[in-house]
Amino acid sequence: MCGIVGYFGNREAAPLLIEGLSKLEYRGYDSAGVAIIENGEIEVTKCKGRLKNLENKLEESPIHGMVGIGHTRWATHGQPSDVNSHPHSNKEQTISVVHNGIIENYIELREWLTSEGYEFKSQTDTEVIPNLVDYFYEGDLLKAVIKATKKMEGSYAIGVIAKNEPDKLVAVRKDSPLIVGIGKEESFIASDIPAVLAQTRDVYLLEDREFVILTKEGVKIVDSNENAIEKEVYKVTWDADAAEKGGYEHFMLKEIHEQPKAIKDTMTSRIVKGQPIKLDDITITKEEIKKLNKVYIVACGTAYHAGVVGKYVIEKLARIPVEVDIASEFKYRDPIIDENSLMIIISQSGETADTMSALRLAKEKGARVIAVTNVVGSTASREADDVLYTWAGPEIAVASTKAYVTQLIAMYIIALFFAQNKETVSNEKLEEIKEEMLALPEKVEKAFECKEAIEKMTAETVNEKDMFFLGRGLDYAVALEGSLKLKEISYIHSEAYAAGELKHGPIALIEEGTVVVALGTQEELFDKTVSNVQEVVSRGAKVYAIAKEGHREVEKTANSAIYVPRVMDLLAPVVTVIPLQLFSYYMSIAKGCDVDKPRNLAKSVTVE
Ligand code: F6R
Repeated sequence: MCGIVGYFGNREAAPLLIEGLSKLEYRGYDSAGVAIIENGEIEVTKCKGRLKNLENKLEESPIHGMVGIGHTRWATHGQPSDVNSHPHSNKEQTISVVHNGIIENYIELREWLTSEGYEFKSQTDTEVIPNLVDYFYEGDLLKAVIKATKKMEGSYAIGVIAKNEPDKLVAVRKDSPLIVGIGKEESFIASDIPAVLAQTRDVYLLEDREFVILTKEGVKIVDSNENAIEKEVYKVTWDADAAEKGGYEHFMLKEIHEQPKAIKDTMTSRIVKGQPIKLDDITITKEEIKKLNKVYIVACGTAYHAGVVGKYVIEKLARIPVEVDIASEFKYRDPIIDENSLMIIISQSGETADTMSALRLAKEKGARVIAVTNVVGSTASREADDVLYTWAGPEIAVASTKAYVTQLIAMYIIALFFAQNKETVSNEKLEEIKEEMLALPEKVEKAFECKEAIEKMTAETVNEKDMFFLGRGLDYAVALEGSLKLKEISYIHSEAYAAGELKHGPIALIEEGTVVVALGTQEELFDKTVSNVQEVVSRGAKVYAIAKEGHREVEKTANSAIYVPRVMDLLAPVVTVIPLQLFSYYMSIAKGCDVDKPRNLAKSVTVE
């Protein structure tokens, strides 16, 4: 977790570091700090809390210098506090480091360094790094960093500066993201592109164990033997505005409203009326698809919920058995996976540690892996055999919205592609589904019309402590997502249940006034869902039903009904999730929560 930045150039580093960090707060926001070389000394300012606290501190006592590193933290080892904030330095403050990742053998390294006379102030794993670099330092920062990384186990993206080499910044990554921004007579390092986008569109996407040295001469990249590495410059084409709020009060609301475009972009050139589906980035052949005995979809959180939809649609259309797994559970259950299995991992960031472990395990066992990810050059995109990018654009709000709907689109695309190759669905049916998919951006736009009804629902339920989300089939998959959204940004406890399962236990929790959000968009299951709604209504529940337009009969059973545009059942999750996203958004505001940065969470979870 965490976000790191670094600057080398001829401008004041502090404001540039702060600007970069402000774009990385989605990676963590427990504390923040900078280390800048000022008049030949490393000056460090860091503190607990949001970046604003750091900005205030720097306003009171500015640091002037043109080389520096910065950090925004999501605590793993050691609670959020000033002392645990990054940058960390050795005792003499001659070496300072910012770090994203976890040094797994830090206890062992700490004990060894302590026996060598080193002292530690914090409870962090990171503090071993500046001390290790110091231990190996013999007048050449790069050499010392290379030697230090040989001792470090775990994941890291680090930026390092040294008092004795004030004209240098060294950085390296292993299993944590790191990019280099190339400016005019200046350069940057950062965990992610938005951090440098206001300054440059030219970046290098670093691979594991590539060491980068920023000096007056520019950017040099070497391997651990100091052999130069030539890299292609990646030109960022998306607009800097895509990472800004663009007039919306919160990133989440902006991203909710960007969904029609994100869906359209994700389908472009893949879903074309009257033409077979072609997936340029996917090399799996017709024969290989036919041989598949099992598909595993593995992901975390919201991406997992997209995977639950994926299971329904791949099984339905391509007739291949699909297991969908929570990534953190997958590898520990000794899964039966071989060269005839396919793993689809879904990850917005492409960096989620648990998902990456599952990917690596599948590859070890000879399975093919398709990564569905939103970040070009992410670890997932580099390690998977094939990549299907979701073109959602940068998602900044911690609560995922546009990434989720584009992940759904990716699931439909893969299911249709397999069905086309396996000939499990007629051409007419394929065309019908594609045509309805192409209409989805418009339907989602129309789904936003439920806003007023949702605001009313929010006002009526703002004081609730618990809620239930019910649905059958694909509605159950969406109920899982609706419930997660509500919990994570409004801190209201909620549970999602398969509607038919409720009477096997949880119905005991239903009492007078319990709020139930019932999803009834699946025509075939509609009557059964209505029966389940009746079961809870008769026990006093207050039910808000979500149904397709025209299904006014729900009003007879539910206390309130919210309608979404009509689409075929298979595609309904794309529109059904809209009122649920808006509900969690308005609820978060009504409860005075921090919508874009909910407590205890971070956007990219790069620790297991
Ligand atoms: C919830 C949310 C998380 C992520 C999960 C996986 O709104 O965003 O549950 O979906 O942490 O992240 P990625 O997709 O980056 O692997």
